[in-house]
Amino acid sequence: MSKKPVRVAVTGAAGQIGYALLFRIASGEMLGKDQPVILQLLEIPDEKAQNALKGVIMEIEDCAFPLVAGIEAHSDPMTAFKDTDYALLVGARPRGPGMERADLLAANAQIFTAQGKALNAVASRDVRVLVVGNPANTNAYIAMKSAPDLPAKNFTAMLRLDHNRAASQIASKTGKAVGSIEKLAVWGNHSPTMYADYRFATIEGQSVKELINDEQWNREVFLPTVGKRGAAIIAARGLSSAASAAGAAIDHMRDWALGTNGKWVTMGIPSKGEYGIPAEVMFGYPVTCEGGEYKIVEGLEIDEFSQECINKTLAELQGEQDGVKHLL
Ligand code: NAD
Ligand code: LMR
Repeated sequence: MSKKPVRVAVTGAAGQIGYALLFRIASGEMLGKDQPVILQLLEIPDEKAQNALKGVIMEIEDCAFPLVAGIEAHSDPMTAFKDTDYALLVGARPRGPGMERADLLAANAQIFTAQGKALNAVASRDVRVLVVGNPANTNAYIAMKSAPDLPAKNFTAMLRLDHNRAASQIASKTGKAVGSIEKLAVWGNHSPTMYADYRFATIEGQSVKELINDEQWNREVFLPTVGKRGAAIIAARGLSSAASAAGAAIDHMRDWALGTNGKWVTMGIPSKGEYGIPAEVMFGYPVTCEGGEYKIVEGLEIDEFSQECINKTLAELQGEQDGVKHLL
């Protein structure tokens, strides 16, 4: 017997990431090759964006994906999120010329307050939300705070791209396959302050820290490379990362929905005080997933350098969250 379709909402559906993401959701890479989906796509009401969305929908139709049980175009989150089971919030206001960080936070606070309220009003009571649009952690925090009737734990921010970038740097440094890396963690904000931590990581049972055995490389090459990778891609492509961001969104949602089999992954989730992070801060943690729920990997020792890094990314996040509190 075939499964009942689930509803997947994607915002910013006609954007760069949307174009790299939707076809993979439609082909079953996110929720499984046996899981039909109804796509609920949201774009801004602007005629150009709605026309672009129509074009993307025509292309999805032309792929004749057997798992696509419906495609809807929306310009209002109140209809786009109706009964949705999974919501990928990709669309956000990019930083424009002369725009200060506070202006960017305020513009996005408006978008994510409205979307959080709409999720609260019309989404499935069990909706799982991933925020990709930047500043991702703070946008996820805003959406969570705007949806008091939904479980706070179901609001998450994307740190998976940082996790995948860290894994890829370790693979090239050690000459080992990227898929063989286990127990990698990324702490904090999706920003250059994030702390990618391979102290516990292993490859085929061997310690990555011992394999690399170069603390200077960790601090002076690895951390800045992973932290500034987004900017490096913008400098090279003239556009921000899209295919890799879409890939990370697929990984995040797939692992959350289908489980990680004990493998650690990184998700930005609301803290409940773990590792001394104040409650509700949307923080990147190492987690495992099973049965549609994530669980923080607890009991890891935090040494002095790691604590300094965690404090720095936490301070940045708290600054962002303080900057939007009056708007909530
Ligand atoms: P893009 O500009 O190509 O597309 C964004 C789309 O969102 C546009 O089509 C726009 O019309 C739409 N949009 C804007 N506001 C909206 C709203 N309120 N409702 C619905 N749609 C809306 O941008 P992109 O390259 O696809 O990137 C999207 C976001 O993802 C950006 O904020 C980017 O910084 C962020 N990003 C995050 C990560 C991460 O790891 N978390 C990685 C890469 C990019
Ligand atoms: C990335 O990490 O690639 C993006 O968050 C960069 C950006 O500013 O869009």
